[in-house]
Amino acid sequence: MESKRIATLTLDDGRSIELPILSGTLGPDVLDLHNLAKLGLFTYDPAFFSTASCSSKITFIDGDAGLLYYRGYPIEQLAQKSDFLEVCYLLLNGELPDAAQKEEFRSLITHHTMVHDQLARFFNGFRRDAHPMAVMVGVVGALSAFYHDSLDINNSGHREISAHRLLAKVPTIAAMTHKYNIGEPFVYPKNKFSYVENFMYMMFATPAEDYVPNPVLVRALERIFILHADHEQNASTSTVRLAGSSGANPFACVASGIAALWGPAHGGANEAALKMLEEIGDVARVKDYVQGVKDKKYKLMGFGHRVYKNMDPRASVMRQTCYEVLKELDLANNKLFELAMELEKTALSDPYFIERKLYPNVDFYSGIVLRAIGIPTNMFTVIFALARTIGWVSQWNEMIADADHKIGRPRQLYMGETKRDYVPMEKR
Ligand code: SDX
Repeated sequence: MESKRIATLTLDDGRSIELPILSGTLGPDVLDLHNLAKLGLFTYDPAFFSTASCSSKITFIDGDAGLLYYRGYPIEQLAQKSDFLEVCYLLLNGELPDAAQKEEFRSLITHHTMVHDQLARFFNGFRRDAHPMAVMVGVVGALSAFYHDSLDINNSGHREISAHRLLAKVPTIAAMTHKYNIGEPFVYPKNKFSYVENFMYMMFATPAEDYVPNPVLVRALERIFILHADHEQNASTSTVRLAGSSGANPFACVASGIAALWGPAHGGANEAALKMLEEIGDVARVKDYVQGVKDKKYKLMGFGHRVYKNMDPRASVMRQTCYEVLKELDLANNKLFELAMELEKTALSDPYFIERKLYPNVDFYSGIVLRAIGIPTNMFTVIFALARTIGWVSQWNEMIADADHKIGRPRQLYMGETKRDYVPMEKR
């Protein structure tokens, strides 16, 4: 990247250094700090409020304007006009597929949806009531054992087959996780179904009767997958990149991403937001609950975002999807949805939230839609992980494909003890 401008840093001891200012195609310029080490200085930016950890061409977010682009395409257009596998192709390859490429990709993914039958044995090591995210971390990580030896991550063909395997098999493992949790037999994928239909079939079908996916619910879940597919350098994607920078195989890297996503401040927020709505219970209690937030007793789950200081564009699409699904299911006067809209209205008119630029994020409405589709609450973050797998894999692939990439190794500001000698027991 060429730099057109220079920043000069001058220290109080008179030393100074020139730091190149780099510009991307969109978004804020960045200070290239490589030269800072010459001054014997580190930067200090815990939680990375002002730090770009990499350059990327995959996803762009403008938090102030509330914009989200996958490879330059606005999320609203993709959610309305595209389908999830086409979005996966776009994120992975950088361009929308033509008809032949799209059909070849669909066929490739479809024919990789089965998992090695030995993998089913891993589930038996978990209690039936284990949280599905714990099972997902374990079983997706275990895929390493099946493919680790046939994987040279510096071979682009090996990276591509791994991407296809993960994209194809994570839904199968996710559905197996649910079936294990509820004590029903695993349902094998059927190639006649689309990607989303197949997932719903494996989740809800039983050997006892035929299952026909509801097209409205399939479309709603497809939209949820599209909205959650990637989101630049969020906590779980940064985890995948850092794990991948050591040369770890993509299955282990994606398992680390699933683990990071589980936290309630990140992907666990959809489960927490729905539990919050159920705890509030009635529109009449919204004001008291919001007061508790302002008194800092708890956070408003599904609200706020590190980057978005405007409405998360995904939340707007989610709200519309919520309305459509509830209308289709004749649940339009759904109490939770009415509660969510009242909570949003109350919060967005309150100075506490306005001053802190707290708006609903993607997790605020997604739980209501997932519940209406019939997905149990403990599977909400698994759905997020399923959708985000393509983002993690695309970001991992972009990093490894860069021949100049290095192992990530942040430094620290040491605040511990200065040098001291060992104290023998009799003197302690
Ligand atoms: C996702 O990064 C991504 O892109 C993530 C994601 C993705 O697609 O990968 O978009 C998915 O993780 C969405 C976020 C889901 N999390 C939640 O909904 C949990 C609730 N939200 C918060 O925990 C919080 O908003 C974060 C973690 C999302 C962001 O927190 P920051 O950026 O670290 O900001 P902060 O905690 O410093 O908050 C700034 C102020 C504080 O108040 P003051 O100390 O200034 O008085 O805002 C307050 C916070 O207390 N605040 C909230 C709040 N979020 C922030 N107060 C009440 N409720 C909230 N939800």
